[in-house]
Amino acid sequence: MKTRMLRNIPVSEVGMGCMAFSHGYGQIPDEAYSIEAIRNAFRHGCTFFDTAEIYSPGLSRIGHNERIVGKALESVRSETVIATKLFLHGESGSVYRTVRSHLEDSMERLRTDYVDLYYLHRMGSVPVEKVAEAMGRLEEEGLIHGWGLSQVDVDIIDRAQQVAPLSAVQNIYSMVERDSEKRVIPYCMEHHIGFVPFSPIASGLLSGKITPQTRFETFDDVRNWVPQLSKSNIAGNLPIVEMLKTFAEMKHATPAQISLAWMLHKYPCVVPIPGSKNRERILENLGAAEVELTDEEFASLEETLNGLKVYGHRGLGGF
Ligand SMILES: NC(=O)c1ccc[n+]([C@@H]2O[C@H](COP(=O)([O-])OP(=O)(O)OC[C@H]3O[C@@H](n4cnc5c(N)ncnc54)[C@H](OP(=O)(O)O)[C@@H]3O)[C@@H](O)[C@H]2O)c1
Repeated sequence: MKTRMLRNIPVSEVGMGCMAFSHGYGQIPDEAYSIEAIRNAFRHGCTFFDTAEIYSPGLSRIGHNERIVGKALESVRSETVIATKLFLHGESGSVYRTVRSHLEDSMERLRTDYVDLYYLHRMGSVPVEKVAEAMGRLEEEGLIHGWGLSQVDVDIIDRAQQVAPLSAVQNIYSMVERDSEKRVIPYCMEHHIGFVPFSPIASGLLSGKITPQTRFETFDDVRNWVPQLSKSNIAGNLPIVEMLKTFAEMKHATPAQISLAWMLHKYPCVVPIPGSKNRERILENLGAAEVELTDEEFASLEETLNGLKVYGHRGLGGF
């Protein structure tokens, strides 16, 4: 697979979100299945793996997902890029020491002595300049290769960038969540910061497999509150799904692949991290890197999309 740069970090053009092996989409697979699915993605050209300290069943067991990723990638560590994230909960004292302590715990679970890309998962009460200073120091020490912010708008990004250059911004972004197009992605392009869309398939909507009749799980399933996935909004968003199905047929691809190919064509700084806990669908999503849209096809897709109303909006303010 081709590579793209997240400032200083080369990654496969499509990465892999590992969250669902631990959290967010109902029942989780056996650990052995998850480990093999991650290794299989690597064998198929994926080098970029996304996790977070908090990903665990019901968000109740810190490190569950990092442990899986660590076991899966230990033997190929030097050929992979691991991104993980921390939360700061208003801890007192040195921000550097707090961030370093979270990082050390993550590194132990990830079976590594460095993290390629370390994100602050959400802005809390700690000023972003203090976080940037701590991240810059950790980068100088070689404990991380780059750092990033998640779910942020351009004012926060710019304040951080003045202190320690960011490698990536990870925001929600898909055909139905386009707030970052206004200011964030242009800023990232200008400053050579990678833009990593999370939930790029809109939590499954853009795969075309979800209908108003789809029942989500009751435990730990974010699809129960993703705005585009309420029964009435799924129905409202069907024209977008139909558009993807039409393009997919034309390009001998799948709707999920077309939605990823669209963003890859649109922006050279974008590296999506689709998530799936299914081995075959993971490979399908990685295959989006092989779906080349011509400029005409992209323009037609974009124009059709711009003419369709999106039902449901989470935006950058949403958790
Ligand atoms: N920074 C943040 O705050 C934040 C927030 C959320 C997520 N993330 C990261 O972003 C990654 C991706 O986000 P996400 O998992 O929320 O959303 P996503 O990638 O848009 O969608 C995941 C959902 O779509 C389904 N799906 C994926 N590919 C499919 C395909 N080809 N065909 C049919 N269904 C498909 C999955 O089901 P199956 O599992 O059944 O395939 C799952 O239900 C996560 O793994 C995580 O690493 C970060």
